[in-house]
Amino acid sequence: MTSVLVVSGSPAPVSKSARLADLVGEGLARDGFGVAHIRVRDLPAAPLLAGDAADPAIAAAVALLDAADGVVFVTPTYKASYSGLMKVFLDLLPQHALTGKAVLPLAVGGSLAHVLMLDYAFRPVLHSLGVRHSVQGCFLIESALDMASPEFVTGDLQRDMLARAVDNFSRALTDNAASATWTGFPDRRRRQA
Ligand SMILES: Cc1cc2nc3c(=O)[nH]c(=O)nc-3n(C[C@H](O)[C@H](O)[C@H](O)COP(=O)(O)O)c2cc1C
Repeated sequence: MTSVLVVSGSPAPVSKSARLADLVGEGLARDGFGVAHIRVRDLPAAPLLAGDAADPAIAAAVALLDAADGVVFVTPTYKASYSGLMKVFLDLLPQHALTGKAVLPLAVGGSLAHVLMLDYAFRPVLHSLGVRHSVQGCFLIESALDMASPEFVTGDLQRDMLARAVDNFSRALTDNAASATWTGFPDRRRRQA
């Protein structure tokens, strides 16, 4: 089964980006993908801040990412960039951790003034981790996200933008799986098993 890891990076206990991560993960699971969601705030703080990749909980999270065919990163916008919590998680990953994976960056922010942060801040970091083709991301304005509503994402424009981004990600995942037909490399055989 094609597997997806969703990583959300808000430090807040009640978080719009974590809820968005759940929503996207649930939709992908309904579409037949195997989905896991890591909330970085649930990882042990001291090893996270110390960059201790040998800590068992951190190592398990990194292994989950390594095994995933695709990764959805969902971050709040903090100080015109992605969150510091997301950064400490990304800093724990091996240099080419995202090579060969489909990657979808999503952000939630309070101001449209920072809508480009996905392009000037988040995408370059993901590329430094080996992504060669990340799916067009999506910045959702927090005023369109209603925690009290079962639908959560309100407004046709926001819903449409998110649906398109997730559709493109699903397509990239399926394309990746379909194109990995050459079995000359043992790790490719493992991926297809
Ligand atoms: C410390 C902090 C800094 C923030 N900085 C920005 C910012 O620079 N630009 C922006 O659009 N929103 C900013 N926001 C608003 C958050 O992005 C917004 O509230 C978002 O919904 C938070 O996501 P969360 O509920 O998952 O934590 C900031 C919020 C906090 C708490």
